[in-house]
Amino acid sequence: MDFAINGRTQLIGVIGWPIEHSLSPAMHNAALEALGLNWRYVAMPVRPGEVVTAVRGLAALGFRGCNVTVPHKPAVIPALDVISPEAEMLGAVNTLVFTRDGAGAPHIAGHNTDVAGFIGDLRANGFEPEGRRVVVIGAGGAARGVVYGLLGAGVAQITVLNRTVERARQLVEDLTQKDRKQEARGKIEEDDNEDPASCVLHPASCIVPPASCILYPLTDETLVESARTADLLVNTTTVGMWPKVEGCVWPEGAPVPEILTVYDLVYNPLETRLLRLARQSGARTIDGLGMLARQGALALDLWTEQALDVEAVTALMRRAAISRQLSAVGQKADG
Ligand code: ATR
Repeated sequence: MDFAINGRTQLIGVIGWPIEHSLSPAMHNAALEALGLNWRYVAMPVRPGEVVTAVRGLAALGFRGCNVTVPHKPAVIPALDVISPEAEMLGAVNTLVFTRDGAGAPHIAGHNTDVAGFIGDLRANGFEPEGRRVVVIGAGGAARGVVYGLLGAGVAQITVLNRTVERARQLVEDLTQKDRKQEARGKIEEDDNEDPASCVLHPASCIVPPASCILYPLTDETLVESARTADLLVNTTTVGMWPKVEGCVWPEGAPVPEILTVYDLVYNPLETRLLRLARQSGARTIDGLGMLARQGALALDLWTEQALDVEAVTALMRRAAISRQLSAVGQKADG
């Protein structure tokens, strides 16, 4: 087909700050071309403080929708007319859908496809979370989506490890309490002791079906000990991400249990030091690019309303992201 921009070209894109290194334009434009859609996906830098104005402007300009990335995922919420339950629960929106209401006024819906992107990618890699024991490293925005998704998928136990243990406590409290309200699923047990160390809970005392959440400060010892009895380890921190590729949450010299599946949300580099250590120990590894591609495919599905083949679009987006990343490495080497 003619892929030239013309008067009928539909626009979608991503807002963030900064945004120039985003892989989303390469992923989405490859998918749009393959689907034969006269649409384009653009990266738009939006300064903090101007998010609501920018989003309303995009809706008024006739954009079909946009992705929202760091640091704007919570900041777009005041611009919304409607928000999906998972986005509301997490206080984070990564996909906006713009339509018009009956009177022709712009209507803005907020979704979170990160959660389904993560759980869908786990399943696509042959890991069914239901009934499993999971260790999540980190307690930031990414960890919230991961823990929420795992609770919804019916895991038996989640251990959250974070450098700042208070943040882990807040995450577990927020998600399990809200989750319990909605689905009577998830529980945190706490010591009444006011000592900060009291949030270090003993796993044996905390297994409360159908899911229990345990939290520890992140140390070599708590990580290795928690992983010893887990099925899945998920790194949601930025440790190991380019350019600090030598960073690794797992202690040097300790073997990664062979029965563990290790999932790193970092996708640059594709094989982080954590994943390399896990692979060398014989554990299963999953890189972060599958989740990135799948959240993108799910967003495109919302915008196009075409009942896309999400598996095929995810695979296509993953390939496009890898070739974009490789060409970026080439440019750095050339430059
Ligand atoms: P995101 O939205 O990507 O999750 P974030 O909210 O800034 O980003 O969270 C980053 C996570 O990585 C946090 O869990 C952070 O730990 P703290 O809460 O203690 O800050 C974790 N993190 C970042 N750098 C780290 C490091 N060098 N060692 C351990 N954890 C680190």
